[in-house]
Amino acid sequence: MTEAPSCPVTFPTARRHLFDPPGEVLQWQRQGALHRMTFADGHLGWLLTGHSAARAVLADNRFSNRTELTHPPVPHPLARQENRQLPPGFFLRMDQPEHTRFRRLLTGQFTVRRMRQLEPRIEEITSDRLDAMERGDRPADLVQSFALPIPSLVICELLGVPYGDRAQFQRDSAALLNLDSSAEQMSAALVDLMAYMRDLVLRKRAEPADDLLGGLVAGGELDDEELAGVALLLLIAGHETTANMLALGTFALLRDPAQLALLRDDPEVADNAVEELLRYLTIIHMGPVRTALEDVELDGRLIRAGESVAFSLPAANRDPERFDDPDTLDVTRPATGHLSFGHGIHQCLGQQLARAEMRIAYPALLRRFPGLRLAVPAEEVPMRSHMTIYGVHRLPVTW
Ligand code: HEM
Repeated sequence: MTEAPSCPVTFPTARRHLFDPPGEVLQWQRQGALHRMTFADGHLGWLLTGHSAARAVLADNRFSNRTELTHPPVPHPLARQENRQLPPGFFLRMDQPEHTRFRRLLTGQFTVRRMRQLEPRIEEITSDRLDAMERGDRPADLVQSFALPIPSLVICELLGVPYGDRAQFQRDSAALLNLDSSAEQMSAALVDLMAYMRDLVLRKRAEPADDLLGGLVAGGELDDEELAGVALLLLIAGHETTANMLALGTFALLRDPAQLALLRDDPEVADNAVEELLRYLTIIHMGPVRTALEDVELDGRLIRAGESVAFSLPAANRDPERFDDPDTLDVTRPATGHLSFGHGIHQCLGQQLARAEMRIAYPALLRRFPGLRLAVPAEEVPMRSHMTIYGVHRLPVTW
C-alpha cells in the first residue's frame, strides 16, 4: 500500500503513459480525495482527486472561479496578478450572478435539439475533409487534415467567424494555451484576438447576420467589449478542445484495434464510445481551480476561506469508486457521469456540440479508411504535455 503524501504535493503533470493520468495522482487518490498542495506561486491549497468530492465542489457556490482569487496549479506565464486581466464577457471566470447574465443568453443556442439540427452540416464538413485526405498525400497529419478543421469550421459557421481568418486565430489561440509561451507572447495573442473580435462585432453591427454572434449583437443586451469577450471564449473553447479529442481519441483507438473495430462496425456503439473516450482521455488535465469564499468542510478536512483547490479531472475520471475497472478503455460501457465537461454552473456550454462532432467524425474516419494506422512508432508521436489541453501536436497516419 502506498503511503499518503505527508508533505504538500505539487500538481502532477507527467502522464504515466500516453493516455493515463500521472501515476502518483492515482496512488494518492487511493489514500483520499484531498491532499495539501503547493501551487506554482507558493500558495498552500489543495489537490482534489476523488470523483464525488470533485462533483460536490464544482457544484458548490461557496467556491469561486474568479481569476483574481484563484492560484495557478502549474507555472503559468500570466500568473502575475497584473497580467491576469481577462476581457469582459469571459464568463468562464465569473461567479453568479454575473455568470448567469451571460450564460442565459447562450444556453438556448447549444441545446441537444439545436445540435441535432446541425448534424447534417457536420456530416457534410466531415465528408469533405475525408475526400480531401483521400486526394492528398500519405502519410497525412490527422491533426491538420481532420481533427482541427472539423470543429474549427463548425464553430466558425455557428458563431459567424470567417473561416478564411483561421490562420490568425488558430495561431493566437495555440499561443494562448501553450505554457511554454512567454508572458509577452501570451499577452500579445490575447490582444490580437480581442482586436480581431472587436472588429468582427463592428462588422456584424454594420451588416446584421443570421449567426450566433449576429444574434447576440442584435439582442442588444451586451456591449461591444462583452460581445468580443464572449466570442473569444466560444471560439477558443469551441475548436481546441474537440480537435484534441478527435486526434487523441483516434490515437487511442489505433493502439487498441479491438475497441476500434467495435466503434467502426457497430453504429449503436458511437454514443457510449464518445463518453468513454472523454472519460478515459480527460484532455482538460491542469485544472479547473476554485477558491473557497468561506471555510468549508470536505472529506473530513477543513478548506479555509481563500484557499484554492486544484482538480485532477483525469484522476477523478479514473476513480474506482465511480467507474469499474477505470483504467480499461471499454467503448461499450455507459461512461456517463464523467467530469470531462466539468460540473455545476460552468459545466461545458458546448458539450452537445462536441458530442455531435465526435459521434459523427470518429466512425466516418474509421469507415472511410479501414486500414488507418500510425505512420510512425507510437513513442514518436509528439504529445501536448505542456499545454492546458492535452492531446497530440501531430498524428502522422497512413492507410
Ligand atoms: C471535447 C470537447 C470539450 C471539452 C473536453 C470541454 C471541457 C470543458 C470543461 C471541463 C469546462 C468547465 C471548466 C471549469 O469548470 O472551469 C468547459 C466549459 C466551457 N466550454 Fe467546453 N469543452 C469542450 C468543447 C467545447 C465546445 C465545442 C464549446 C463551444 C462552444 C465549448 C465551450 C465552453 C464554454 C463557453 C465553457 C464555459 C462555460 C461556463 O463558464 O458557463 N466547449 N468545457
